[in-house]
Amino acid sequence: MTTSETSNAVLRVESVTAGYGGAPIIENVTIDVYPGKITAIVGPNGAGKSTLLKAISGVIKTSSGRVLVAGKDCTNFAPEKMVRHKLAYVPQVANTFPDLTVRENLEMGGYTRKHGVSERIDELCALFPDLQASLRRRAGALSGGQRSMLAMARGLMLDPEVMLLDEPSAGLSPIFQTALWEQIEKVASTGVGVCVVEQNTRRSLRHAHWGYVLVLGKNRLDGPATQLLHDDEVIDLYVGRMS
Ligand SMILES: Nc1ncnc2c1ncn2[C@@H]1O[C@H](COP(=O)(O)OP(=O)(O)O)[C@@H](O)[C@H]1O
Ligand SMILES: [Mg+2]
Repeated sequence: MTTSETSNAVLRVESVTAGYGGAPIIENVTIDVYPGKITAIVGPNGAGKSTLLKAISGVIKTSSGRVLVAGKDCTNFAPEKMVRHKLAYVPQVANTFPDLTVRENLEMGGYTRKHGVSERIDELCALFPDLQASLRRRAGALSGGQRSMLAMARGLMLDPEVMLLDEPSAGLSPIFQTALWEQIEKVASTGVGVCVVEQNTRRSLRHAHWGYVLVLGKNRLDGPATQLLHDDEVIDLYVGRMS
């Protein structure tokens, strides 16, 4: 990677080590996310993918390394502060309020916006047409795919420059997974740098521009996503051969 590409990263994770108090779960992990691009983090269950996103977003503390958002050192900022620095984190679970309506969920996502809340909701409804028709419904009454889109839209209420998505398509049927990935691509096309963690390796690498394989909390390999899809080790361990 050239220096100019590196400096252009909207999110730089440099050699980050973090865990939950005991032995580190992720060690010296390094990733870059670029504006308008989808970066995929793949790897087996328990590899530390979710832990990495928690360390980036400030949910857990890092013990070493740096997290830079748009070039600014945001290491160990609290989650609310990360949000102000234009990083949105969509956790895998508990990412919407089921008893609130879709509109109320979006309003809460934009709680620190001084103005333009309803304009932003309109913009996001244009991006996620499914939500438009459901604004008055309770989030708990949405389908899994719609809830995942709502969680993303909530994260977008504060115009982030980078968005972290933890397993956005988990539990969705293939058709809804396709719809969801189309939405993720649309979000990236607005200029947001998207970092997606997925267990569905093949699908996420198909949509990403760059992929990182994480194994036992460490960087195993990375490269252009389409290249990883054809890498023998990745295929054997995580993708499976086409029968
Ligand atoms: N809250 C927690 N407290 C202690 N250990 C945890 C916690 N969450 C995850 N772990 C451990 O961290 C390791 C990595 O988990 P995780 O980051 O969820 O992996 P992945 O998302 O790749 O499946 C696992 O061994 C898991 O048991
Ligand atoms: Mg996980």
